[in-house]
Amino acid sequence: MTAAWTPVCRLEDIPLQGARRVSRAGGPAVAVFRTAEGEVYALLDQCPHKGGPLSQGIVFGRSVACPLHNWTIALDSGQARAPDQGCTARFAVRVEAGQVHLDAAELAAK
Ligand code: FES
Repeated sequence: MTAAWTPVCRLEDIPLQGARRVSRAGGPAVAVFRTAEGEVYALLDQCPHKGGPLSQGIVFGRSVACPLHNWTIALDSGQARAPDQGCTARFAVRVEAGQVHLDAAELAAK
């Protein structure tokens, strides 16, 4: 089955080493991150610890530090760095011609 992609923002709308919050009608927002190298990742905008807004965290390397209690979450997996334990949902991202897309089915389901 071919994935359907939903455009969510322009690449330049996400600051380098920053994030952009994408609201959803049916559930919690998604945080779209851009690393210093320009890689783009998307996670549920909820820390696996107590639901902190990861989109307001500090991006470093391929991780984000949660703004509430500083857990480190891997951008490519959503996994908390040990000794902390937990995982937040990860979303597929596609960047094409400067436009960032998320998987429409994942946006509707997760
Ligand atoms: S809510 Fe993110 S570290 Fe506590």
